[in-house]
Amino acid sequence: MTETMPAWVRETYGPSDGVHLEQIPVPIPRPGEVVLRVEATALNAGDIRLMLGDPLLVRPVFGLTRPKHPVRGMEVAGTVVAVGSQEIGAEVGERVVGELVGGGGLASHVAVPATRLVPIPPDVTSVTAACLPIAAGTAWQALDHAGIGFRSVKHTAAGHVPRVLVLGASGGVGTFVVQLAALRGSEVWATCGERNARLVEHLGAVRTLDHRRSPLTELPAAHFDAVIDIAGGMPLRDLQRLVISGGRVVLVTGDGGPVLGPIPRMVKAAFLSIGSSRRIRPLAASPRSEILAKLLELTAEGRITPVIEREFGFDEARAALAHLEAGHTVGKVVVRGA
Ligand SMILES: NC(=O)c1ccc[n+]([C@@H]2O[C@H](COP(=O)([O-])OP(=O)(O)OC[C@H]3O[C@@H](n4cnc5c(N)ncnc54)[C@H](OP(=O)(O)O)[C@@H]3O)[C@@H](O)[C@H]2O)c1
Repeated sequence: MTETMPAWVRETYGPSDGVHLEQIPVPIPRPGEVVLRVEATALNAGDIRLMLGDPLLVRPVFGLTRPKHPVRGMEVAGTVVAVGSQEIGAEVGERVVGELVGGGGLASHVAVPATRLVPIPPDVTSVTAACLPIAAGTAWQALDHAGIGFRSVKHTAAGHVPRVLVLGASGGVGTFVVQLAALRGSEVWATCGERNARLVEHLGAVRTLDHRRSPLTELPAAHFDAVIDIAGGMPLRDLQRLVISGGRVVLVTGDGGPVLGPIPRMVKAAFLSIGSSRRIRPLAASPRSEILAKLLELTAEGRITPVIEREFGFDEARAALAHLEAGHTVGKVVVRGA
């Protein structure tokens, strides 16, 4: 008889109120995969996009008329309970974390390619580890894309402190961008709602601007080495105006129209960057286990700390998705395992 497990399922595209708890077969690992008993799944804006099938552009890849994978949850931490037939280096009983591109984390068990997984250090909880793969991984890659590296002694001696503006600093990705940019030795300015200003300053921003009250057009031109746009909505020319010659604007936001999403903005960014010393670079972050390993190390050392707005029990997963869908998450939302 097929063994079954509880999973939060939505067979069609649509809002979180249509997600329901079902019993589905426990996955069997294929060669190169492991099965995890899920201990924590962190949710992302991307889970909401896949749940809604919005923009339409995602559907040819993730399921034309219905999602290929009906279970959401892409950042997963858990314990290996079964390994596939190939030699893959992961051991039963090991605690690991990683990214599931199509989802699957809102279930008691999930199959994951072993190459996507990184061992969790003993003093990092599974809830904390689950916050890192996409949110912190994207933040890391956004700063790399912007040319904001760890400051070398040479830079320090030269006295140049890069100034970075983070648009949308209070969400899952933004709270990590602020921490990592400060850790890399930058002076961080950030936009967020007034209620989150103290938090964002605590994370390392020297100045916060209320995104509902302070128009960016009032900021001086050529003031930043990099602008990391996680919020969207600002004309690209206004963002380009803010960076110095040789500086970069990085587009992280996936916002855009209901059909093509961010694509038209990406095309415009490429157009505006032709022949310009102020380049606008869209980011498509990818799962990178070497970056995840560094992020776990920084977390274990207490040098970065995920901001967790709320932990939900497994039986509250639908409420967790609804909370994210409402669009005002502060840091991360995590669902504990079943
Ligand atoms: N390019 C990539 O590879 C990649 C990877 C991951 C994520 N993303 C994209 O990155 C974006 C953020 O993801 P996330 O998971 O961090 O989202 P999130 O946690 O849901 O972000 C919510 C936060 O954004 C703030 N916010 C909304 N509009 C804002 C604005 N105009 N100015 C400043 N802050 C604003 C909200 O603050 P208030 O409550 O004050 O409104 C809230 O705290 C999404 O569009 C996602 O699709 C892209």
